[in-house]
Amino acid sequence: SLAKVAAFKAVILGAPGSGKGTISARIVKVFGVTHISSGDKLREHVANSTDIGKQVKKFMDEGALVPDETMISLVSHEIESISNANYLLDGFPRTLTQAEKLQKVQPVNLVLNLIVPHSVIIDRIKSRWVHLPSGRVYNVGFNDPKVPGKDDITGEPLSQRIDDRPDVVAKRLEYYVSKTEPVIGYYKRLGILKDFQGDTTDEIWPKISENVAQYIKK
Ligand code: AP5
Repeated sequence: SLAKVAAFKAVILGAPGSGKGTISARIVKVFGVTHISSGDKLREHVANSTDIGKQVKKFMDEGALVPDETMISLVSHEIESISNANYLLDGFPRTLTQAEKLQKVQPVNLVLNLIVPHSVIIDRIKSRWVHLPSGRVYNVGFNDPKVPGKDDITGEPLSQRIDDRPDVVAKRLEYYVSKTEPVIGYYKRLGILKDFQGDTTDEIWPKISENVAQYIKK
């Protein structure tokens, strides 16, 4: 068996709607790591109309990628600001440039790659509802809120993401194939990539949990 390493510095990769947010929430709950979601951070900036929020909104609404420099600076600062040695990056890196830069400044030691068929993804995104302030995600029929249309914790209303419109989802999937799949190859060559395949989170979760447990005790 593997020796316990000093820290868990991981990335979760997968197409839009592959379940990165859902799996990340379980890893946080079970292992106490800090979750850094680039998408949640960006949505927070947009909701608060910050300078960054104003710059990135049009890219996000169209399903395009936000420029690398903006993302690298945002996520680097975020990593520096947390005190937990164990963290999980979700949604970053998404281009080869982002991945290479990250490996120079804050190298990661494990990459969890979720492989889910695009047909499954398109179905899921249609029934996704989110609590924007917290990033909590629900799905009609899979992970229903206790009260329809309301967040479990705050009772506030849920909404659908602008970029979850079917035409925008198709664009996000195209960007994933052209820009993010090269990142998978990069981590594979570094020998830190682990693939997880399956149509359901319940199928994938036990294998993920086993891998994370090699780095952190529950
Ligand atoms: P981001 O927020 O990162 O979006 P994404 O990668 O498209 O991922 P999603 O949030 O859509 O999906 P997920 O994989 O987390 O799936 P989830 O768990 O919600 O980025 C948004 C935008 O920000 C980008 O388009 C870009 O513009 C910009 N951006 C962000 N980072 C960037 C970067 N590094 N560089 C440049 N631009 C960047 O699950 C999906 C649904 O399925 C949910 O409804 C869930 O409940 C449901 N579900 C999950 N598992 C199951 C299951 N087993 N069965 C049924 N339903 C399930």
